[in-house]
Amino acid sequence: MKHNYFLTLMAALTLLFACQTQEQPGTQVATERQDNPGRFFNDSTLTMVGAYYYPEHWDPSQWDRDLQKMASLGFEFVHMAEFAWAQLEPKEGVYDFAWLDTAVMLSAKHGLKVILCTSTATPPVWLSRKYPDILILNEDGSRWDHGARQHPSYHSTFYRDYSMRMIAALGARYGQDERVIGWQLDNEPKVHEDFNPDAQQRFRTWLRERYQTIEALNKAWGTAFWGQIYQNFEQINIPRGTQLFMNNHQRLDYRRFCAWQTASFLDEQARTLRKHTSPDQFITTNYIPAYDDGHIGMSRELDFCTYTRYMVYGEKYGLGRKGYRVGPMERIAMANDFFRPIDQVYGVMELQPGQVNWGQLNAQPLPGAIRLYLWHVFAGGSKFTCTYRFRQPLYGTELYHYGIIGPDGVTTSSGGLEYAQFIKEIQTLRDQYSPGAPANAAYEARRTAILYNHENAWSITLGKQTKEWDTEGHILKYYSALKSFAAPVDIITEDKDFSAWKVMIVPAYQQVDDTLIGKLTQYVQNGGNLVLTTRSGHKTRNGQLFEAEYAAPVQNLMGGKVAFYDLMHPGTSDPVVMDGAQFLWHIWGDVLEPAEGTEVWARYEGDFYAGKAAVTFRALGKGTVTYVGPDSDAGDLERAVLQKLYARLGIPVLNLAPGVTMEYRDGFGIGLNYSDQPQEIPIPADAAILIGQPRLETAGVVVWKDKAP
Ligand code: GAL
Repeated sequence: MKHNYFLTLMAALTLLFACQTQEQPGTQVATERQDNPGRFFNDSTLTMVGAYYYPEHWDPSQWDRDLQKMASLGFEFVHMAEFAWAQLEPKEGVYDFAWLDTAVMLSAKHGLKVILCTSTATPPVWLSRKYPDILILNEDGSRWDHGARQHPSYHSTFYRDYSMRMIAALGARYGQDERVIGWQLDNEPKVHEDFNPDAQQRFRTWLRERYQTIEALNKAWGTAFWGQIYQNFEQINIPRGTQLFMNNHQRLDYRRFCAWQTASFLDEQARTLRKHTSPDQFITTNYIPAYDDGHIGMSRELDFCTYTRYMVYGEKYGLGRKGYRVGPMERIAMANDFFRPIDQVYGVMELQPGQVNWGQLNAQPLPGAIRLYLWHVFAGGSKFTCTYRFRQPLYGTELYHYGIIGPDGVTTSSGGLEYAQFIKEIQTLRDQYSPGAPANAAYEARRTAILYNHENAWSITLGKQTKEWDTEGHILKYYSALKSFAAPVDIITEDKDFSAWKVMIVPAYQQVDDTLIGKLTQYVQNGGNLVLTTRSGHKTRNGQLFEAEYAAPVQNLMGGKVAFYDLMHPGTSDPVVMDGAQFLWHIWGDVLEPAEGTEVWARYEGDFYAGKAAVTFRALGKGTVTYVGPDSDAGDLERAVLQKLYARLGIPVLNLAPGVTMEYRDGFGIGLNYSDQPQEIPIPADAAILIGQPRLETAGVVVWKDKAP
């Protein structure tokens, strides 16, 4: 049956409101969370800084000295008990809180607030030995073992139940303790794809709930292909990662399931804690900003999310010959812009204090870089930053990992001094804070959304068509262009009200449904400016093609068709031409056929479709739709298209050099230089400079306050 998108639009709009309130296991969910997470923080404090401390690693005689030192450097909170289950429950059912009581008492003595953790990343050995079924089971039948961390399976029902007992005991002990301000669940919770027998069973249950009937599942997975038809849910196994040609629809669902499992384990922990904790203690976790993991923002019981970030570890190069000493600006920028929109409140739970030990090449960060990261996190709006870790360890897996304090336990490291400097600077900034200071209007006018759904990344990865494709890399081309405009960016999910953004980029949005197309159409009709990019609208949410022309769902939006797409081998790039300028591409190009009234902004050159449209633009209702067919090699086409669009919309943009960024928060402007050259920040002429100066060396920071209008 052919699908008529136009006719289903009205039905879709009605559906939209129903869907927003429904919980759909494993799909992107609305982040309807605990009330007003802003209440945990005092606006005039701006931000707080804390550090990880592991009292269980040090002789108790040193705790007082260490915590005193932490406080004297200006730290305001301490983070404890992260991997300490073995010390907290040395024997099954026998808890020992005495040491933690002492550590909390000493923290309070030095004016440090406390964040506590649930140590579900590190079960004690007696638990793993007595109940080996709690361990992750690999596809080859081997089990992970005690002796590292993150070896238990989130799918194990027994592990979950056992964890809840420990969490309840912790909650009962510290849940009403005013010295404790909040909780971190687990550590960097990841999506585990494991073959634990409980994972198998839970997957089947999850599928039964999702599809109700085996016929519906067979349809969603297209099992008629190669006769993969299932007769009942008990026949379904976890898809083998190493087996060639496993059903991709099944794989997609398995990833959804795993993300859901991780999210639901965190929710279960939060619900358990909340039975004991005071409403003044927040509950969060420290996510790795691995955007396509899918579970970030999915645990609805958390008050807000935090992330962890390491910038110098040899794999992420910044700009210039030794750009690895600073790292790429977008790494913190994008994490800020991804985490903030989830709840409007976020924190950074781990930030590098100096050299680390776990990368391929753990160079020294450039002097000043640690402070640069702190300011960057601040610029994004973070409520706090915690550094991993206070003391450099003397044993264990992280021997060469810097702390705020060096191996002698008393000397402040170079990174530690940069922390102390930042903390002092924030203290002076607090005096300059004016509640309700107006936002910088020119900056706000550039505010842009990028719509993101991890399922598109999954679906594309399952069938890339070209090994050259990189979904995050594609999004980054638009993101970097926006940052060079000094545009504030919010990376948002489909549940948000799109009308808050004048421009919204929807990059490589491969999987769509009527609800989303209806919502996008309404956004444009009401005055929104949509930028749709290559590969969008090809597939259903189950990852199947539509029985329609390519990208049929987006045709009415773009005002035209995708005639076909092409991709070329590396080294054979061709140009597209826009306004006389050439831009090379080879990874992916949608070849467009614009309808009447749709403008062609750029055309292909050099191959059998030379002269065909590559970028189109049209007005629709009160808004506009730009469609960008190619993914350019250098991101220059993406930048030029956005430049042209913002000019057309009358939104003035800046032209910052690569690696330079500029943000506003709480009435303060912040300029940062990640490039390898000195750079001038275009600060408003009448602004009062509070820290630094407009010309910044590499890793330099300038902070100012606009003149009151
Ligand atoms: C993080 C992890 C921390 C610590 C740190 C070292 O990824 O969450 O527990 O291992 O790395 O840099």
